[in-house]
Amino acid sequence: MLEHVSNEQQLKGSVSLRKHLQFAALNNIMSSVFGKRYGSTRDSGRLETLQNMVREGFELLGSFNWSDHLPWLSQFYDPFRVQQRCSLLVPRVQEFVRAIIEEHRLSGGESRKMSDNGDFVDVLLSLDGEEKIQDDDMIAILWEMIFRGTDTTALLTEWIMAELVLNQKVQDKLYAELEAAVGNRSLSDADVAKLPYLQSVVKESLRVHPPGPLLSWARLSTSDVSLTNGMLVPAYTTAMVNMWAITHDPNVWEDPLMFKPERFISSGGGVDVDLRGNDLRLAPFGAGRRVCPGKNLGLATVTLWVAQLVRSFKWVQDETSPVDLSELLKLSCEMKYPLCAVAVQRNEKLGF
Ligand code: HEM
Repeated sequence: MLEHVSNEQQLKGSVSLRKHLQFAALNNIMSSVFGKRYGSTRDSGRLETLQNMVREGFELLGSFNWSDHLPWLSQFYDPFRVQQRCSLLVPRVQEFVRAIIEEHRLSGGESRKMSDNGDFVDVLLSLDGEEKIQDDDMIAILWEMIFRGTDTTALLTEWIMAELVLNQKVQDKLYAELEAAVGNRSLSDADVAKLPYLQSVVKESLRVHPPGPLLSWARLSTSDVSLTNGMLVPAYTTAMVNMWAITHDPNVWEDPLMFKPERFISSGGGVDVDLRGNDLRLAPFGAGRRVCPGKNLGLATVTLWVAQLVRSFKWVQDETSPVDLSELLKLSCEMKYPLCAVAVQRNEKLGF
């Protein structure tokens, strides 16, 4: 990704980061879930097919469908071709994922599970007895991982970089922390986990711009639920959790609209919040049984990318395309106007 960023900067004088992040996110998920990386031009056809399927899936999930609200209508009417497009997409996804499962079977994936070379497909294939999973279920699980894991990591990184462009002092402080911690060495996951300011920048970005502001959108209560404030949610009510409202609530957060990573530095009197679902003031991955299963992977990935992007470049405003933090709520909440910024190379010695 760093090399592509550098090339675009040299060629155009600024960088539109989104496409680089989306490509890196897809590759990242493909390597942990399927053990595949799409680097060479030989793979570009397959990667493009995958990207198109993910994009089509997002459009379909985000589009309005009459029959979600009036189920009887679906027999007669499909005005926006939602059902028709779904029935074309599903077999394409099945064919794509099934081919990868077969490749794993042929190369003895079940026995690779416990080795360092094993990936998520190998783990699923190795399940046996009562745990054994049918191929169709395996396809659904794998597709869900790709689908949920790509967009979120890319768009969270884009939000963080936009805030760093707008808040140069925060970016400088972050860069100083990175330089002091690693010097000339290359960064590892273990390094970034120990950097309090970097962790606070990611936390603050998840607070101000939670990628899933309504968590999984809708939930259905299966029985009457009494809330501690005396309210009753009757059985079969569709309910949504508005995480965005909680993370912007002035009764919970001081100056909620300000980007202030320092609020999380506990040694400086800030709050110590575990954002993995144990503290409902900030639960951008949800909480409870349906909490995001990719939260650790997502956090580790985003934190490492931000560290690498800031260590390699100083990110400043592109005067012809100022940063605009307007939000666009699709399936996730993304920047309405994709980030474009100037990436001034800082570190020749990293050499790419
Ligand atoms: C920064 C990155 C990420 C964010 C902010 C995020 C956020 C979320 C949120 C808010 C939910 C809904 C939780 C709920 O309704 O309670 C969710 C669900 C989910 N996420 Fe993530 N996620 C991220 C990365 C990932 C990654 C990397 C993967 C896969 C490797 C992943 C896989 C999933 C899956 C499969 C679900 C559905 C779980 C279920 O319905 O039971 N996510 N995520």
